[in-house]
Amino acid sequence: MLKAVILIGGPQKGTRFRPLSLDIPKPLFPVAGLPIIQHHIEACLSVNDLKEILIVGFYPVTQLQQFVNDMQLQYNITIKYLQEFTALGTAGGLFHFRDQIRSGSPDAFFVMNGDVCADFPLNELYKFHKERSTVSLVTIMSTEATRQQSLNFGCLVLDKKSNEVTHYVEKPSSYVSTLINCGVYVFSLKIFNVIGEAFNAKQEEYYKNNGNGSKDAGYIQLERDILTPLAGTGKLFALPINNWWSQLKTASSAIYANRHYLELYRSKHPEKLAGGKQAEQCKIIPDVHIDASAQIHPTAVIGPNVSIGPGVIIEAGVRIRESIILDAAVIEERSLILHSIIGRNSKVGKWARVEGTPCDPDPNKPFAKMENPRLFNDDGRLNPSITILGCSVSVPSETILLNSIVLPNKELSKSIKNEIIL
Ligand code: GDD
Repeated sequence: MLKAVILIGGPQKGTRFRPLSLDIPKPLFPVAGLPIIQHHIEACLSVNDLKEILIVGFYPVTQLQQFVNDMQLQYNITIKYLQEFTALGTAGGLFHFRDQIRSGSPDAFFVMNGDVCADFPLNELYKFHKERSTVSLVTIMSTEATRQQSLNFGCLVLDKKSNEVTHYVEKPSSYVSTLINCGVYVFSLKIFNVIGEAFNAKQEEYYKNNGNGSKDAGYIQLERDILTPLAGTGKLFALPINNWWSQLKTASSAIYANRHYLELYRSKHPEKLAGGKQAEQCKIIPDVHIDASAQIHPTAVIGPNVSIGPGVIIEAGVRIRESIILDAAVIEERSLILHSIIGRNSKVGKWARVEGTPCDPDPNKPFAKMENPRLFNDDGRLNPSITILGCSVSVPSETILLNSIVLPNKELSKSIKNEIIL
């Protein structure tokens, strides 16, 4: 039997995802029509023997319970949300809930960062781990990045013959390796002995310092406190993969993830792509996901790479490309939406143009990943990025919104360019 843990952090994390995470916890933001971590759950369902999924974070239970209930109903698998009393770090939560994870004696368990998106090769990863299970405590899913971008990730040096990780540095200050940690792992249960030792050492240090320190005594970082010391001991392995993988840190990366998840639907879930009846209703340029409750005018042209949420109304002559339109938004006739995210209940008036600039990985650089540029450049101006309307924003007719971010509940009165409307 196998289990999976999805680490989702809490309200203080994911700040670069604002304003999209202002009215909904970031792990529940819909990408390609599903909350981000529902893609993780669906990946877990493809593993035959996986019986339980534990979502671990420090969001209040009230914010996750409905989602967990819905998932339980939808899928025939046990799903629970376990709330940390405070941020315990990427390994502290695993240790805190160790009895829950160990119960039923699973052969191993997956750990998945909730803020990555991928074509998760979980079966392949487990097969690799099992083949080394007599010695291995952890298998890391790994991928290649550019030399420069690797510094933003956990970097690992691999013995090419055995795939053993001989050296691991979390976000190094100078180049170590272009092989990076994807934030997806398989753990053997014996890992709790190692985390337990790190926990005891932390406790001792905490009480020696009379409890001084900003973090809780149980705060343990998987990467620095566990993986770095394990490297070179013969117990840490990595499987490099070529599948699509990306972090989901910024709103721009949601558009990028949207495109790739839609593309994956083609082979894995064609039923989630607009086609058949919907294709007869308006012009669709694949790939597009349209919720069954959305109303689209027959003269609208949608796609490629567009997701349209429940209750959305798209009027005559609207053109939408490379965008996410969230629940109950209304796009009035003849408007254009390009590289943008339109928040829940927002309204875009007639003949308006809402346009952003994509921040896709550089196609000329092999292995380039999504850049997560700062919001502002050195002159204090907004870096060009996708346009985001928070929830319940109203855009008047015949206006242009370019590379801008509008916080929730704003009623705009004029065109804006490269601005944040607070
Ligand atoms: N439950 C819980 N508690 N989850 C947490 C906590 C915590 O205290 N802190 C972070 N997380 C979750 C985040 O929500 C995210 O899903 C994941 O753990 C990792 O978060 P970060 O700490 O922000 O790390 P990172 O994303 O910058 O880097 C990690 O992921 C990279 C791949 O995306 C590292 O594992 C890197 O080595 C790795 O390359």
